[in-house]
Amino acid sequence: MRQLKLSKAFTLVEPGPVVLVTTHDGDKGNIMTISWTMVLDFKPVFAITTGEWNHSFAALRDRRECVIAIPPVDMLDKVVGIGTCSGADTDKFARFKLTAVPGRVVRAPLIKECLANIECKVVDIVRKHDIVVLEGVAAYVDPARKEKRTVHAVGDGTFVVDGRRMDRRKLMASKIPEGL
Ligand SMILES: Cc1cc2nc3c(=O)[nH]c(=O)nc-3n(C[C@H](O)[C@H](O)[C@H](O)COP(=O)(O)O)c2cc1C
Repeated sequence: MRQLKLSKAFTLVEPGPVVLVTTHDGDKGNIMTISWTMVLDFKPVFAITTGEWNHSFAALRDRRECVIAIPPVDMLDKVVGIGTCSGADTDKFARFKLTAVPGRVVRAPLIKECLANIECKVVDIVRKHDIVVLEGVAAYVDPARKEKRTVHAVGDGTFVVDGRRMDRRKLMASKIPEGL
């Protein structure tokens, strides 16, 4: 094996899919792009990595709510656009022509054009590593959405699109919770 620059190691394990996270600051909604996500349990508990450097963080910290919206690959250019401008000076719903739909539990809006949306409460913020722990309180999918492939960020500006689905359900049966 050839040596790999340690600074590139994260690109080997970069998770996916890339998600959009919406917040509401009491006045208006905003959206950010997040590729550093993690599922923490079979229960709806997730972690995202973000912090003060983003406009969204104040709403996450103060309102303790957000929505994780899952964009399919046909939204990739919007996803990158949303992640390269700030809600501090931009209405991203208007700029990227996205439809904000009210959720049932949290004030942060769902994004109609996405494949799925998860309403979340912020249950912990681990400042040392800028980890925000989220608990899902409601979830939605759009079965009519034709494009279902999600996008995974490598971390260097390139993306990998979902491919073939492989079924190992029988082999994994002892590890999969009942009903899943
Ligand atoms: C593909 C992509 C992935 C990103 N992933 C993250 C991430 O995981 N954590 C983070 O803090 N920022 C991430 N960003 C950057 C934020 O989305 C970006 O700073 C955004 O402008 C924040 O918006 P806001 O200032 O309106 O909150 C990502 C951006 C892109 C384009």
